Amino acid sequence: MALETDFIVIGSGIAGLRASIELAKNGAKVSVLTKSKTSDSNTEWAQGGVAVVLSDDDNAELHEGDTLVAGAGLCDEKAVEILVTEGTKYIKQLIEWGTEFDREGGKLVFTKEAAHSRRRILHAHGDSTGKEIVRALVARARQEQAINLLPFSHAESFIVRDGRCVGVRYLDPILKAERDIFAKGVILCTGGAGQLYQHSTNPPVATGDGMAMSYFAGAEIADMEFVQFHPTALNLENAPRFLLSEAMRGEGAILRNAHGKRFMGDYDERLELAPRDIVSRSIVSEMRRTGTRTVFLDITEKSEEFLKHRFPKIYETCKYFDLNIAKDLLPVSPASHYTMGGVRTDLWGRTTIPGLYAAGEVTCTGVHGANRLASNSLLEGLVFGARAGKSAVVDSSEFRVQSLELKEENPKSKVQNPKSERIATAVSKRVKRVMWERVGIVRDAESMQRALSEFEQISQANLSKASRNFVTLALMVTKAALWREESRGGHFRSDFPERDKDWKVHSIQKQGEEISTSEKINFQKGAEA
Ligand code: SIN
Repeated sequence: MALETDFIVIGSGIAGLRASIELAKNGAKVSVLTKSKTSDSNTEWAQGGVAVVLSDDDNAELHEGDTLVAGAGLCDEKAVEILVTEGTKYIKQLIEWGTEFDREGGKLVFTKEAAHSRRRILHAHGDSTGKEIVRALVARARQEQAINLLPFSHAESFIVRDGRCVGVRYLDPILKAERDIFAKGVILCTGGAGQLYQHSTNPPVATGDGMAMSYFAGAEIADMEFVQFHPTALNLENAPRFLLSEAMRGEGAILRNAHGKRFMGDYDERLELAPRDIVSRSIVSEMRRTGTRTVFLDITEKSEEFLKHRFPKIYETCKYFDLNIAKDLLPVSPASHYTMGGVRTDLWGRTTIPGLYAAGEVTCTGVHGANRLASNSLLEGLVFGARAGKSAVVDSSEFRVQSLELKEENPKSKVQNPKSERIATAVSKRVKRVMWERVGIVRDAESMQRALSEFEQISQANLSKASRNFVTLALMVTKAALWREESRGGHFRSDFPERDKDWKVHSIQKQGEEISTSEKINFQKGAEA
């Protein structure tokens, strides 16, 4: 039987939780679908912190300026202004709701990260900022009786009728079968697609399904060529690429090559605090120059006592792998970290499909442009999650939920058989590897053409929905990266190494159409919620 609710939110990271709370505050019933546990999201893994204008020597113009510089000419200025000005209000609210950011003598402590002109990054429990925010938001969401959290409910597709998104088809974890749920509006907050790459700092759930679902429903997807690679993921055989937060470099950690030499001075005068794309490429270049596969992060200047307190999670994780961060050099290499591109939205989270809204890393709001400023993503999820919730309520005031009988009485079981699981694993492994080797930190036409042919071939096979989504995303990133014949922000082409003013446009992809361009991400003309 089909279900009905007022609104459906897909994803329970910072954007999804904040959107759900906003909807419930406005008297709406909300069903929150997540494909894993409620706490399993990119947000939960966020270490470094959240950038916000709250310290005495900071102001919104400075934060805005830093964000625009990082975005390399492709930020939407209005979106950035909203981020930095409304961000302060929403962070204060998060503190009122019980989020415990780190303090000294009762005062909030701010750290510095690359490309920020001020110390403006709040953190919690040293390096567990995302976890603390999710804890506080889940606790706040649980106070709202109208919010129904549905973990292990994997959204599969949007139900679109007469051009409007009216519901979601998902895999019911109890029935182990597809089920439809109808609503006045759907807010997509499924996070990014870091898992497209063989090496990623992201959790396994970051497979970009929301972007692929939106594409197949007919939404516009923007700027997929812009992927951010974090310079310092732990690089140990048979260990996950655990993130060694940029905040470590903010606190003075330096990078050394395989011979122990500090090398960032050879690449950029900002040294270890140059923007992430520059540090990542410098590391790749230094590895090639020295014929090695790793470089080292060195924070041994700091005392063990300081490090245990400031980076407790990193300290413990490295200890598990027999590394003492106060004494040992830490082997690191870059890994995919953040997807700047995504579902195109206006300034209120509206996508190009009426009834479908989106917030957080799954979107392209124009906030990040070609390269995200460190620690701006939690802030984006918070601000634009709340805005999407507000606009969904206002826009749908005249709309009544209408469930449609779309499927057979006895739904077919969707339990995967071992053979199809093996095929899905093989497809995912191959795609990740090709993405890493051919559409990674340094790209060129020849390499990407080969990736494109291989993905096109894979996409002809009889694939599961998840594999189809995954290959489609790989195709989208590759096509956009091939199309953009310049280097800008997170997209670097060795065959077009310079930024070119003629490419100061966004790539827009829509199913069944060639890539088109737009000067702006925000597609609405003056529509406010
Ligand atoms: C980090 O802690 O280095 C990650 C912060 C971010 O990606 O914004």
